[in-house]
Amino acid sequence: MSATVWNGAGRRVYLQEVGTRDGLQAESAFVPTADKVALVDALSDAGLAKVEVTAFVSPAAIPALRDAEQVLREIRRVPGVTYTCLVPNVRGAERAIESRADELNLVMSASESHNLANLRMTRDQSYAGLRAVADLARGAGVPVTISLSCSFGCPMDGDVPEDEVLAWCARYVEETGARGVTLCDTTGMAYPTQVARLVQAFRARWPGTELTLHFHNTRGMGLANVLAALDAGADRFDASLGGIGGCPYAPGASGNVCTEEVAHALALMGYDTGIAMDRLLAAARRLPGLIGHEVPGQITKAGQRLDLHPRPADFEAIRARALARGG
Ligand code: COA
Ligand code: ZN
Repeated sequence: MSATVWNGAGRRVYLQEVGTRDGLQAESAFVPTADKVALVDALSDAGLAKVEVTAFVSPAAIPALRDAEQVLREIRRVPGVTYTCLVPNVRGAERAIESRADELNLVMSASESHNLANLRMTRDQSYAGLRAVADLARGAGVPVTISLSCSFGCPMDGDVPEDEVLAWCARYVEETGARGVTLCDTTGMAYPTQVARLVQAFRARWPGTELTLHFHNTRGMGLANVLAALDAGADRFDASLGGIGGCPYAPGASGNVCTEEVAHALALMGYDTGIAMDRLLAAARRLPGLIGHEVPGQITKAGQRLDLHPRPADFEAIRARALARGG
């Protein structure tokens, strides 16, 4: 790897919160609408570049997000922050546009089996439907992005060939005019060398298109994958507060890379994330209370690297004894 990974040198990295969508969709408890709104507002104030506020999906399929309209209506819109929403179909797009979403994040899977399991369509059917969504959005002046689930592997089909992933990217970038593509590691199958290859290939082909990496930490490789992607030229990452999340239709799925862990690591390495750590951590500390259980994120438990601890009460006695031994 080049030296860049070890020194951010002030390079801007955009962190995009998905806990409010990817995270909350996986929770069994319904987080009250006012709490969701307060959470999004806290994330805006913490300096996230983008927040995926909710999903305009079938309320029967994902009851946890059945209040999408109200949440989007009631959040405080901070200038400079993009408020995006997941949209699976035309019905979702109509709802999201009506609710003044800044951007629609379309979703399909790079893997045929996962697409069928999650969206009940073949990939070709998804693409046809999502082209109609993109046309609708263009007419309304709302940009779209595409999240390609399972871009680094599918829990049912195994590896998805890189050329196949890039071919789907090509269709969205070149045919539908998507503003950005998110390569999603839905079930934590990505590994750093694979990530570097795909990021380099994407960047070389579409230098002007927003590329986001969306990693889940299912096998402990999340932060390593972030660093590999940065080194290969990526500058946008999805992450979830507390590391919550996981696709309800992917066996063994677990949380996204944790926003405060990524922000903490990147700040130490000299990247400019725009994040105010104290605000982000304050939001993260409130999260277990909202969802009713502990979260995987470590920073709220361990503190930041230089949150120091008091020395032992008998420290001076220890020192005196050590010095008395001489040497
Ligand atoms: N918003 C509101 N309701 C929607 C909707 C949307 N975007 N999309 C579908 N529906 C409703 C339909 O109106 C229908 O309601 P009804 O039973 O009262 O008539 C019901 O959902 C099922 O619709 P159906 O036609 O059988 O399915 P579909 O093909 O339209 O919808 C999905 C399929 C994938 C859009 C839907 O199952 C869904 O939203 N799933 C959630 C996917 C998801 O969020 N996965 C995790 C993130 S990747
Ligand atoms: Zn995800």
